[in-house]
Amino acid sequence: MPSPDREPLEAIVLVGGQGTRLRPLTLSAPKPLLPTAGVPFLSHLLARAAAGGVTHVVLATCYKAEMFSEVFGDGSAFGLSMSYVTEDEPLDTGGGIRNAARSLRGTQGSDPVVVMNCDILSGHDLGAQLDLHVKSEAAVTLHLVEVPDPSRFGCVPTDDSGRVTAFLEKTPNPVTNRINAGCYVFRRDVIASIPLGRRVSVERETFPGLIAAGELVMGYPESAYWLDVGTPQAFVRGSCDLVLGRLPGPAVPQQGHTAQRLLLENATVADDAQVTGGTTVGAGASVQSGAIVTGSVIFDGAQVGQGAVVRDSILGRGAVIEAGAVVDDAVIGDGAVIGAGNELGHGIRIWPGTRLEPTSVRFSSDI
Ligand code: GTP
Repeated sequence: MPSPDREPLEAIVLVGGQGTRLRPLTLSAPKPLLPTAGVPFLSHLLARAAAGGVTHVVLATCYKAEMFSEVFGDGSAFGLSMSYVTEDEPLDTGGGIRNAARSLRGTQGSDPVVVMNCDILSGHDLGAQLDLHVKSEAAVTLHLVEVPDPSRFGCVPTDDSGRVTAFLEKTPNPVTNRINAGCYVFRRDVIASIPLGRRVSVERETFPGLIAAGELVMGYPESAYWLDVGTPQAFVRGSCDLVLGRLPGPAVPQQGHTAQRLLLENATVADDAQVTGGTTVGAGASVQSGAIVTGSVIFDGAQVGQGAVVRDSILGRGAVIEAGAVVDDAVIGDGAVIGAGNELGHGIRIWPGTRLEPTSVRFSSDI
């Protein structure tokens, strides 16, 4: 339980999305529960939330809702207390926040409530974001980051005082590189003003509406490590960055962790195999003689055969890469078998249980 001398600070974490961009991995587990640097992805976010002063988390669940409490229980492993709220029908981001607010414990309208998207790895200073929110008496304070291509995100211009002047979700012509980083501080009474019981998008409805109504929406820009892990490439990058220590990861297991890799319980790596680049080898998984595995995430029980090459890829639970096969920038579903002589790449996704007979697929020329 949180120590009694900490001020109560509550957070809602949105975990209800279907994670379609991470299929087929998200067919069996929701995105926040996918193993990332040795633990479910959400563990990293919860550990950082606790370190940032959060004491009570409400998980806004929908897709595969029942799986969350089995993994996180009462939250005491993170020094948090946790509540679970479920949507029968997906309510989208704003509807999910409004619905989850039923389980907040605070009663003051001016209380700050932290809201987080579940698919972000961020090293930003939550305490500083809260301080700005409280000092400026904002309705909402948004963490903002700069990215080279803002068109895939919510583009968020601000004036000289840091006040947000517009919220332009996924616009083809972004007016600034500053984007919505998916971590907000709301005044509690602003959450209460979101309509109850219907789909509401904070990005398309709530934020533009608050700005149009003249409410103070502040931007908190900070350029610490930040990554949206919604795609397979980003998911692998995030897991490897945690293992490589590119952002602080209080939830990364210490046992089996070296500068280049993380080996979980009963993972085996042959002496002459190479496992580098922040790769995680899951519990009971194996990497056999002469294999090269770099920058990848290998789920529990998967096998990499003799002389096989696995690069920038995800191998689902129990997947098998047979001797000499090459897997590069690929997602291999749970239990799939990639026969010898196959060469997979370019973002290919193999569905769970698929058996690819030897020498069925190549991307390079055959000479
Ligand atoms: P994709 O389907 O791959 O786009 O992923 P996603 O389903 O996670 O969608 P997106 O990345 O746009 O979602 C942003 C955040 O909102 C994530 O934390 C989602 O879990 C969450 N989210 C999206 N829709 C809902 C919903 O209907 N209810 C709840 N509770 N959370 C949601």
